[in-house]
Amino acid sequence: MARIPGIRTAVVAAAAALLARRALRRRVQASPLWPLPALDPPVSGRGRADTGARRLRVAERTEEAEGVVRLRLEGEDLPDWEPGAHLDLVLPSGAVRQYSLCGEPAEPGSYTIATRLIEDGRGGSREVHEHLHEGAVVEVRGPRNRFPLRDSPAYVFLAGGIGITPILPMVRQAERTGVPWRLVYAGRSRASMPFLAEVEKLAGAGADRVTVVAEDEDGRPDLAAVLAAAPPDAAVYCCGPEPLRDAVAALLPTVTGGLTLYTERFAPAAPAPAGGNAPFEVELRRTGRTVSVPADTSALRAIRAQALPDLPYSCERGFCGTCQQRVLAGEVDHRDDLLTDAERADSLLICVSRARGGNLVLDL
Ligand code: FES
Repeated sequence: MARIPGIRTAVVAAAAALLARRALRRRVQASPLWPLPALDPPVSGRGRADTGARRLRVAERTEEAEGVVRLRLEGEDLPDWEPGAHLDLVLPSGAVRQYSLCGEPAEPGSYTIATRLIEDGRGGSREVHEHLHEGAVVEVRGPRNRFPLRDSPAYVFLAGGIGITPILPMVRQAERTGVPWRLVYAGRSRASMPFLAEVEKLAGAGADRVTVVAEDEDGRPDLAAVLAAAPPDAAVYCCGPEPLRDAVAALLPTVTGGLTLYTERFAPAAPAPAGGNAPFEVELRRTGRTVSVPADTSALRAIRAQALPDLPYSCERGFCGTCQQRVLAGEVDHRDDLLTDAERADSLLICVSRARGGNLVLDL
């Protein structure tokens, strides 16, 4: 008899829980959002041909130029890639860095990258130079292509220093497909310019297709003259230091014709506005959680800390695209140079971009 009150309590609690569940279901079904729309797969890393991590062995390491090492990484069943693609390398410290593929796409079983040692950089290039010797094993992700070679009736390629790495496979492809091209390759000195011999060999019979400008001998390249002489509908591909990209972007509007500029940017995203960042909230629709993003933290870090610790990311600087997510509601303050207008219409890079004066709902 002494157990009856306990049984009664349990029965009452179960009935109350059942009623609460039914009431909740009625409220959900009365919502204007019901039935919930079927969502496509999340867009994180959209455009990746293959996101799987794999471990590759450094099969060959060559001093390509002053301060530049070339690495040939071997592995099995490596995904194909196209000119402009890059690999994410997970370095021994855990840092992730992007390096353009510069070998032959058709070469099976290996990828080739090259890295210049940046003395005052963030440390990634130093790790590559100090740790990735022949026989070392390194984790890579990708390849991914954020700098694809678009179809065009003609190409003008402008490369500065290590910026030759994504350009080189593009030049080879243009040559293979018979599309007219011209390459201007600039660097501090000939000794510091990687792949110089191969570039000069590419000139082949048409020697004026390649212009090598070593600044210690020749001064700065005459970019205005190069662009003025380009076919009017050429695609201009530029990769190199920021001053080179800025100079080309500034010159382009002064050139008549329909030149289109494509650049690759491995540099920090736009800084915070003068008044600083504002805090906001992010609703994660799939997860059913809402995350607070303080003024001094990115949405990526807040979401990883408060809800999804395994959410993928890489550069945290708005240039690799790994953290791209679909926006279901809210206005975005885009702080990257990577996404196209079409991509910005429904997604953002959560490592740098924020809400503009409200909250966001993400497909996460
Ligand atoms: S983590 Fe690279 S763009 Fe966001």
